[in-house]
Amino acid sequence: MAIKAAIRTAVFPVAGRGTRFLPATKASPKEMLPVVDKPLIQYAVEEALAAGARRLVFITGASKRAIEDHFDSDQELEKLLVSQGKNELVRQLRSVLPSYASCIYIRQPAPLGLGHAVLCAAPAVGFEPFFVHLADDLIESEKPCLAQMAEVYSEVHASVLGVESVPAKDTDKYGIVALERGTGPVRRIRAIVEKPKPAAAPSRLAVVGRYILSARIFEHLERIGRGAGGEIQLTDGIARLMQDEPAYAYLFEGKRYDCGNKLGYLQATVEHALSHKELGAPFAAYLRRLAKTI
Ligand code: UTP
Repeated sequence: MAIKAAIRTAVFPVAGRGTRFLPATKASPKEMLPVVDKPLIQYAVEEALAAGARRLVFITGASKRAIEDHFDSDQELEKLLVSQGKNELVRQLRSVLPSYASCIYIRQPAPLGLGHAVLCAAPAVGFEPFFVHLADDLIESEKPCLAQMAEVYSEVHASVLGVESVPAKDTDKYGIVALERGTGPVRRIRAIVEKPKPAAAPSRLAVVGRYILSARIFEHLERIGRGAGGEIQLTDGIARLMQDEPAYAYLFEGKRYDCGNKLGYLQATVEHALSHKELGAPFAAYLRRLAKTI
């Protein structure tokens, strides 16, 4: 029987500049953009908690206040809402972060790349495997994506990368993996390359923003230099890690919205609004009326 090894730490790199969303992201990280009524980072934290994480490590950049404030309690606001009889809102605010979870904030001194952001988490992670969650990849699924991956980890006891098939023309936006022969959703990775041009891509399987990484990744991230785009790339660190130990790709179940670009963000917003329990029906009626006019 597989041994259940709980992964306790989740790392959320939120220090990118989010240039595709400027000026919205000038003073606030893109992970604070709301999808209907919750910021992206809250969806991320809920997914990590559902997968068993209890220590939440945020790698923040220039505009870290908004995220810290979001996960902090706001006594004054709660008092105001209580005095107005808005008890349901108070309940919702209090459930933003359950008391069993703790938050650690680490500043990335400059946006030197995702690999560098993950390296900044090393003192908080220690020697255990950990989740990395990129909040701008919002994944809608029956079982939360990280929970699916934690199950895979308990079988393979090695790094696991969430992957999905992307159109051939888009390979240069992702880390792309080549897999060993086999079938099924879990396969060992043979090679990984950052943002290859379509003609050079070893497959169309792209790494999206969900990882379980062995703590040995830190040794490699420390040593690698700048890669694609002049940034310290997590993909390059994983390629080095794979020289020492195996890593697996997992074709997760679920629908991913790339909320790092405006179209993906709008799609996520519309589809989440349609499935929202109060807004869903009136919003669908509105869209039907609107569709007749375009
Ligand atoms: P992106 O590649 O989407 O970059 O980062 P970005 O800067 O956030 O956005 P654009 O491309 O300028 O619009 C992927 C993830 O890695 C984090 C980002 O916050 C995002 O979650 N990141 C990236 C860091 O934390 N630090 C970095 O140095 C780079």
